[in-house]
Amino acid sequence: MGILSSFRTNLRARRGRKNEEREWVARDYASPSPSWIKRRVLLRAGEKNATWVETGTFLGDTTALLALESKAVHTIEPEQTLFRQAEARFRDNPCIHVIHGLSESVFPILLPTLRGKVNFWLDGHYSGGITHQGPTDCPVRDELANIEKNLALFESVTVLIDDIRCFDPSIPLYADYPDVNYLVDWARKNNLRWHIEHDIFVAKSTAP
Ligand SMILES: C[S@@+](CC[C@H](N)C(=O)[O-])C[C@H]1O[C@@H](n2cnc3c(N)ncnc32)[C@H](O)[C@@H]1O
Repeated sequence: MGILSSFRTNLRARRGRKNEEREWVARDYASPSPSWIKRRVLLRAGEKNATWVETGTFLGDTTALLALESKAVHTIEPEQTLFRQAEARFRDNPCIHVIHGLSESVFPILLPTLRGKVNFWLDGHYSGGITHQGPTDCPVRDELANIEKNLALFESVTVLIDDIRCFDPSIPLYADYPDVNYLVDWARKNNLRWHIEHDIFVAKSTAP
């Protein structure tokens, strides 16, 4: 990345952070927390020196951060323009693999190839605007089924699911999301400890 484009990226990030903080205060700190706080949760709760799998690359800002503290990041984005932008942004970073497709199609191919400590950031939800709207607004059932199928391959696993406030299908806007109890049942069934913080569901095979 050139100096000018890096300056623009930093400026955009600073402005975005200020706006998000202002909105959060105006909502009296109700969910969702600003994205920089959510990213702190990812770095703290995720296993260190692990492989990250992110669903929903979007602009790649979380991807870039995760890559600083991990072995590799596999990030999946179905929206063609967002995918191309991310591919160009991370072209020179051998740690980051940008994959084009739906998580539902990519997981069955990618997960059997992974070993060691694996962290999942499940954030591939339709989010309006330019984001991709696939067969379901929230593919998390499919993603969790695939993680479960491959669990024995991993030394440890941490699963972080964003937007927990949306996991209430009785709200018409979130009809495609499973109930939060679905996530709790899945974590218990797989002997994972779970908790929720800053709008993120965290399930871990190791002690928090
Ligand atoms: C909320 S944004 C992701 C934000 C990003 N992970 C971050 O932390 O900055 C959601 C992204 O998920 C993508 N998406 C939508 N459906 C998806 C699916 N089935 N699989 C993977 N990604 C999906 C959207 O195109 C959008 O870019």
